[in-house]
Amino acid sequence: MPLVESVQAALATVIDPEIRRPITEIGMVRSVAVSDAGVATIGIDLTTAGCPMKARITSDVEEAAKRVAGVTEVSIELGVMSEEQRLGLRSQLRGGKPEPVIQFTQPGNMTRVYAVASGKGGVGKSTVTANLGAAMAADGLKVGILDADVFGFSIPGMLGVEGQPTRIDDMLLPPIAHEVKAVSIGMFVPEGQPVVWRGPMLHRAIEQFLADVYWGDLDVLLLDLPPGTGDIAISVAQLLPHAELVVVTTPQSAAAGVAERAGSIATQTQQSVVGVIENMSWLAQPDGSRLEVFGSGGGQIVADRLSKTLGTAVPLLGQIPLDVQARQAGDDGTPVVLSDPENPASVALREIARTLGARQRGLAGRSLGVTPLKK
Ligand SMILES: Nc1ncnc2c1ncn2[C@@H]1O[C@H](COP(=O)(O)OP(=O)(O)O)[C@@H](O)[C@H]1O
Ligand SMILES: [Mg+2]
Repeated sequence: MPLVESVQAALATVIDPEIRRPITEIGMVRSVAVSDAGVATIGIDLTTAGCPMKARITSDVEEAAKRVAGVTEVSIELGVMSEEQRLGLRSQLRGGKPEPVIQFTQPGNMTRVYAVASGKGGVGKSTVTANLGAAMAADGLKVGILDADVFGFSIPGMLGVEGQPTRIDDMLLPPIAHEVKAVSIGMFVPEGQPVVWRGPMLHRAIEQFLADVYWGDLDVLLLDLPPGTGDIAISVAQLLPHAELVVVTTPQSAAAGVAERAGSIATQTQQSVVGVIENMSWLAQPDGSRLEVFGSGGGQIVADRLSKTLGTAVPLLGQIPLDVQARQAGDDGTPVVLSDPENPASVALREIARTLGARQRGLAGRSLGVTPLKK
């Protein structure tokens, strides 16, 4: 093989850290030349001038080229894609579609979409979402998390994501933390500033997060919904009619009542409820006994009542104990399933993640992309 081709083959092993595709496939390699002395000169076009991954891409390219036998030196000439190239790239990433679309509702899309809901705040919805995402990704699934809790966003902190998504014009590349792609309103508002939006703007924000973000090919998309049954829950139901709800509650009977309402929204939105997760179920005592800080039974009560209301079996997917590590890990930006995998909370979370991750997406409620013949 000529040396140039060997270098090109080596470059095909370099993956763009954000887009997660070989740089040779997405038009980033402008030119490759190798001199008689073995000096490889490689032209690389970055998506944007301020590409935060510039250093990483440069060193990956250099390393790959240096591994080729016969290459003595590598010289990289950095450039930036033209507007036309970027347009082509965006269209390529959207699967040939020039305009943004919500890929998850397209015929043939197999991403399972779970919307994590709760009646009230503070029951651990975001903690559960972040941990389920991290656990599924650790199992090899391609996972995205959309933080739809616009007013009370906490996913960036729990996943330890800093900074903004990279922009390719109107397309956003989500930051990837612990192998989970994550997007949150918290990545766009200056620190300490409140989000003061009303219904239509909230709807537009969720729509943009679904359509303008390059999620790539996902196995699972998790949405961290705000507590209750407000505008956002309704927007999500409209934009993602096939999203299935996962209801989080504490064992407290008062919490169970409001959680049930959050789940019952499914009767109006035609969504289905996959199951109930009880969080903060007990605190393990030094003697091994369980202190039921918030009482007991709430998760099962919600599951039973929702089964009755919806007329389909809604199982209790699991019970997660209260745990100091679980709280600490969230504050530190590494979900407890990763930082302390043998922790009882981690074990419970991982089991739920495997149950949800193994489910196949059904065809119910999905457009098959065919129009029935009228007779
Ligand atoms: N199982 C748990 N053990 C200990 N702390 C928890 C647990 N689940 C959640 N927390 C803590 O409780 C607080 C509220 O959880 P969070 O996930 O933010 O709730 P929500 O998203 O429902 O408002 C956070 O400080 C979180 O770290
Ligand atoms: Mg939250």
